[in-house]
This record gives sequence, structure tokens and C-alpha cells, in this order.
Amino acid sequence: MELFETMETRSSRRAFLPRPVEKAVLERLIAAANRSPSYQNTQPWEMFVATGEKKDAVAARMRDSVVKGTPMEPHIPFARVLPKAHEARALSHRNRRFQALGIDPEKDQERITESYMKNFMFFGAPCVIFVGMDKTLSPWSIFDLGAFVHGFLLAAHAAGLGAVPQAMPTGYPAIVREELGIPEEIAIILAMSVGYPDLDAPVNGYRSLRREPGEFVRWIGF
Ligand SMILES: Cc1cc2nc3c(=O)[nH]c(=O)nc-3n(C[C@H](O)[C@H](O)[C@H](O)COP(=O)(O)O)c2cc1C
Repeated sequence: MELFETMETRSSRRAFLPRPVEKAVLERLIAAANRSPSYQNTQPWEMFVATGEKKDAVAARMRDSVVKGTPMEPHIPFARVLPKAHEARALSHRNRRFQALGIDPEKDQERITESYMKNFMFFGAPCVIFVGMDKTLSPWSIFDLGAFVHGFLLAAHAAGLGAVPQAMPTGYPAIVREELGIPEEIAIILAMSVGYPDLDAPVNGYRSLRREPGEFVRWIGF
């Protein structure tokens, strides 16, 4: 797939086919993402790629923790308050997704909870990837991880896979560490659920909106 088309058509996928992802395919995507730029070429990304029983164990324990109301302790705190315009975009996105799922955001609390819980079950994906970095690194390295993740997501899409980057599963780092053997010195920054997308699933049937460039670009001297 041509690069511009890949960038224009990638979307987060939140439902997957029950088809395993071949390790060789993942290796190819990782090799491509590994060419991402990084601060002083430090290449801070660390990946923990899980499938099968270990992935399921993480999901089951996270689900239990959510049900019990165990407080979340992500390395990067979740944003509780957003500036007004950002909050409006987040809300509009949430409502758009609920609309695709036929969920009334005012009434269907049970289905909203069910949809939220799917985050911790990796949306049924056959593979989950946790991305981390050394805890002593600066915020510049989080930027590097973002570049790496985007590279991976684009490569995955070009290869016919689907994925969604997720902050939510970083809320229970102790579980992820224990099950996947992630050392204490690594901060768990992001998760990605990865698989062959179920393109008939309603949750994959909408496209997120974007601001017009005119809203955020200031041309100077043109
Ligand atoms: C840092 C980051 C964290 C995210 N966390 C979640 C998450 O926890 N759960 C989820 O369903 N989507 C999550 N997303 C996906 C965003 O909702 C999605 O990228 C955004 O709505 C734009 O949609 P698109 O990816 O389909 O273009 C996250 C994306 C990023 C970049």
C-alpha cells in the first residue's frame, strides 16, 4: 500500500478475527518501526509481545481488578481534566463510537461498561504488545515511543492487520509485569491490541473525525 494511502486509511480496530498473527509478520512490522527517529538515536522502545495463555492471564486478572474496583496506577497518569476544546473532541469521539454500536450514551450504562471492559480484554485480539522504556528517561523518550508506535500501526495496517493503541491497560502495571516478566526498571507506557481486523464488526465501521488543518496550522511568511 502506498504511504499516503496507508496514513489516510489507518483506523483503530477494536474487533478481530479469531486468526492468530504469525510471528514472522510481527517481526517484519517491528523491523519497520525500528527505523523510527529517536532523541539522540537512543531507541528507547522496549516491547513485550504476548499471545495465548499469558495474554489471556493478563486480561483475566485485569478484568477482575476492574470488577473489584482496584485503583489504577499507570506510570503516566490518566488525564482527568482536559481543556474545553479537547474535552469536546473526546466527547464527540466517544458518542460517535457509541452511535456505531447502537449505544445510547445517556441510558445504556450496562453496555457502556461492557464496551469499557473490552479494553482490558484487548478487544478479543490474538496478540497484545506492551511498549515501555527505562523509567529514568525524560519525556523526550515518550515522544520517541509515540513515533515508534505510529510506525508500527502504519506498517500493521499496510500488512492487512488491525490494531488499537491503548492507555487503559497500563492502569494495572503490576499484573502486566508479573505475567509478562517486565522488569521494575521499565515503565509501561502503552499497550496495543493487534490482530486481523473483523471489518464487519460495527465498532470497526466508523471513522474518527479530525480538525481541519486551518484550525491548527499558522502559516508564517508564505
Ligand atoms: C496514547 C493513546 C492512548 C489511547 N488509549 C486508548 C484506550 O485506552 N482505549 C481505546 O479504545 N483507544 C485508545 N486510543 C485510541 C484513540 O481513541 C484513537 O487513536 C483516536 O480516537 C483516533 O482514532 P483512530 O485511531 O481510529 O484514527 C489511544 C490512542 C493513543 C494515541
